[in-house]
Amino acid sequence: MISEQLEKFRPRINALDSIPTIPVIIQPLLTMLQLPPEQVDLEKVAELVSYDKTIAVQCLRMANSPLFGRRQVETVRNAVMILGMKRVQSILLCCSLNQVVPADKWAFDPLTFWRHSLGCALVTRKMAQMIGYPDAEKAYLAGLLHDLGILVNSLVCTEEYRKCVEDAAARRISIDRAEQEWLGFTHCQSGKVLAERWNLSTDLIEVIEFHHDVELTKNARPLVAMVHLSDLLCRVRELGYGYYEVMGLDLAGDVAWSSLVQHYPTLASVDLARFTLDIEGAIDEIAELVDSVFSVKR
Ligand SMILES: [Fe+2]
Ligand SMILES: [Fe+2]
Repeated sequence: MISEQLEKFRPRINALDSIPTIPVIIQPLLTMLQLPPEQVDLEKVAELVSYDKTIAVQCLRMANSPLFGRRQVETVRNAVMILGMKRVQSILLCCSLNQVVPADKWAFDPLTFWRHSLGCALVTRKMAQMIGYPDAEKAYLAGLLHDLGILVNSLVCTEEYRKCVEDAAARRISIDRAEQEWLGFTHCQSGKVLAERWNLSTDLIEVIEFHHDVELTKNARPLVAMVHLSDLLCRVRELGYGYYEVMGLDLAGDVAWSSLVQHYPTLASVDLARFTLDIEGAIDEIAELVDSVFSVKR
């Protein structure tokens, strides 16, 4: 049930898409991201990438990273071909969303937020490949957008949200718990409102709404479960929200894992310690990639 507090903020959330920077780049991107890959025009994507120097640089860095074979990629067109259009569009989306929140409105350090989002995108994709989920790129996009509501909260209640984030860090509690206490709603609920306004696919809306409550998911259970687990794995490693959260990690006892086993019965025989180790091994590489994209020295 949507709380009264969220209803109070709804008109402001609905007004978000009138912010001039959104429709220019994001709208065509969102439309393209929901098309089958063969219908997406490579030249159009390369043109959108070249439009913004930062985005072009990020695409080139990513295409040249070890995860993509560390080739000598020098042109945007080649980078787009190597990364695959879905991934490039996701980078575009991430960079454009970054511009949606003006510098003085961020309640989070933007770098921390994007490291977490991109980290989750890459971990979710890795997990999708490991368990045989049919659409690894959708998994990537779901990981990238799962915390969309954090942007919404930063925009619609900046000052209060800053205090909320500070409090979460001081008490080492999860963001959603602090949001519930400070705002009366979480980034899951506010993110859902924006996702619906932007006509994201129903799978993505469920990820945004239920990634902290997997058991409430209606149709996209495996996708939501993967994002939930990736989010946890990133948070216990150095790809969280910029502070150390007091939390345990018990995949075997997590409802998200049992949901995945229900959908993919062969997972029941997977050695979970080994599975976690493989993902954790990938996280080191992913953290390096994320930092190279955002040029942070580790
Ligand atoms: Fe979240
Ligand atoms: Fe998250």
